[in-house]
Amino acid sequence: MANDIVSTRRALFAGLGDDYDRWATVLSLGQDPRWRRAMVSHVAVEANQHVLDVACGTGMVSRALVARYGCRVTGVDQSVEMLQGARKRLSGTAADAAVTLVEGRAEALPFADASFDALTATYLLRYVDDVEATLRELVRVVVPGGPVGYLEFAVPPWPVRPLWDLYTGIGLPAAGRLIGPAWEDVGRFLRASIRSFGRRYPPAELAEAFRRAGLVDVTYRRMSVGGGVVVWGRRAG
Ligand SMILES: C[S@@+](CC[C@H](N)C(=O)[O-])C[C@H]1O[C@@H](n2cnc3c(N)ncnc32)[C@H](O)[C@@H]1O
Repeated sequence: MANDIVSTRRALFAGLGDDYDRWATVLSLGQDPRWRRAMVSHVAVEANQHVLDVACGTGMVSRALVARYGCRVTGVDQSVEMLQGARKRLSGTAADAAVTLVEGRAEALPFADASFDALTATYLLRYVDDVEATLRELVRVVVPGGPVGYLEFAVPPWPVRPLWDLYTGIGLPAAGRLIGPAWEDVGRFLRASIRSFGRRYPPAELAEAFRRAGLVDVTYRRMSVGGGVVVWGRRAG
């Protein structure tokens, strides 16, 4: 079961590294750059501090952190192809020297306890087998008091829900088919994945899970009529 999840998520992201940023923005109807900005705004750090960006993908959050705070960032992701996309986008930019990219799994981060001043993670928890253990692993590597931010898709409440069902059930798979095979897989996969995660972890319960993992001052905000949720807090200390 756990191995199935690992190979499914590797295969899903293998063909997306090149043009992920553009299509992620288009397919979220222009919303997810706003959600990332909101999450980054809740992870305030100083220029001399070091942030771990988990499931960094092509590095959109890592670059936003450097642009906003001038901090150092380590981006970690399980997909070699997504990390290659991140390398390409960083190359020749001012953020290049500030970002280190590491291949690794959120479930077993290759870092010592309390080795980062802050942590971000984006669209990660739907892909892990054990959400609560993964959250504890994220919190483990943050210094006591350090801020943590998380961004995830969510299922909007009524009366927007039928429109969301229509878009994710028909619009997204059709758009994915037009873009190409890798995005077709994403288009088919996303609705069921977001729904099933949303049933287990609706936004208030997701915030509770972060509390159980060791965060305090946990707050969440639904964005874009509930299609995205940002959760933030800081490690108890
Ligand atoms: C939808 S992408 C999000 C990328 C990026 N953070 C963003 O802002 O759009 C999800 C990323 O999570 C990574 N991922 C999924 N499961 C993971 C895991 N268990 N450990 C590390 N990375 C994982 C995938 O490889 C992919 O790059």
